[in-house]
Amino acid sequence: MAEHTPVLLDEVLAGLSVQRDGRYCDATFGRGGHTAAILAALGPEGRVVAIDRDPEAIAAGQARFGAEPRLTLIRGSFGRLEERVRAAGLEGGLQGVLLDLGVSSPQFDEARRGFSFMQDGPLDMRMDYESGQSASQWLARASERELVDVLRTLGEERFARRIANRIVAARDVEPITRTRQLADLVAAAVPTREPGKHPATRTFQAIRIHVNGELDALEAALPQAVRLLEPGGRLAVISFHSLEDRIAKRFIQRETQGDPVYAGLPDIPAHARATLRRVGAKVLASPAEVARNPRARSAVLRVAERVAA
Ligand SMILES: C[S@@+](CC[C@H](N)C(=O)[O-])C[C@H]1O[C@@H](n2cnc3c(N)ncnc32)[C@H](O)[C@@H]1O
Repeated sequence: MAEHTPVLLDEVLAGLSVQRDGRYCDATFGRGGHTAAILAALGPEGRVVAIDRDPEAIAAGQARFGAEPRLTLIRGSFGRLEERVRAAGLEGGLQGVLLDLGVSSPQFDEARRGFSFMQDGPLDMRMDYESGQSASQWLARASERELVDVLRTLGEERFARRIANRIVAARDVEPITRTRQLADLVAAAVPTREPGKHPATRTFQAIRIHVNGELDALEAALPQAVRLLEPGGRLAVISFHSLEDRIAKRFIQRETQGDPVYAGLPDIPAHARATLRRVGAKVLASPAEVARNPRARSAVLRVAERVAA
């Protein structure tokens, strides 16, 4: 079975400050690396609700943890975090929520999932391949302007216009259905190469984020995570690129400050008070971890604690 090495494992456990009888939500189960470590730190009364939108992640989780009574596995998007945690029957607040964003190694490494330009496969890229439109379907229908916009904003791709133009010309000849087909097309459209980076890296990132609605799900999940936490409970977010890290960073910044309209006033209404306190600075993987697991290279962990309202 395909493996995933969890990133920043010790740092996440320390950040969550796991309590033996605590209730935790791992909103991005993947292959359960973080969930397993949280379970190992919990006593018999502790609970974990783990969520993933990928049917293969849930199936792998059932195979690995089937007999674990302290774990509830739920398939679905963390965009509806509160609903999913409630569906698990967890009463009361949580002591921790973890979001380890992006794709897992099995998703990326399996050519048939269509995430990778390194191997040829169907151009799918959906984490939940049973709903929504695949990358190939989106590429067939998107207007040139939408293509440019997605490549520019979600891939920070300088050559968005050239690539979009090439995609539109190519799809008039034949549908774009394979990862290699798209990677070759992008490589031909991009005039210069960034050292150490395949020319299609940014295009694949942009399309993946778009097709999976990744940034919207993150924006939706963060305030729900805060509402689910008990005072003293911890929120830990691991991001892998600047767009999602910016969302996490700004959210924590806003929530640690409270509504600026009331700043300095003696009586701040509950809805305008800070809900979080930052815990430490952002954490990056050590050189030793990056040497063991190159995926950890771009990981950024941010931790915050729920404060009493
Ligand atoms: C980086 S992996 C998590 C790896 C996991 N921490 C481990 O140690 O095995 C990210 C996982 O989050 C899932 N995911 C991404 N966006 C999601 C969303 N909006 N809702 C639920 N799961 C999501 C992906 O399907 C993937 O399995």
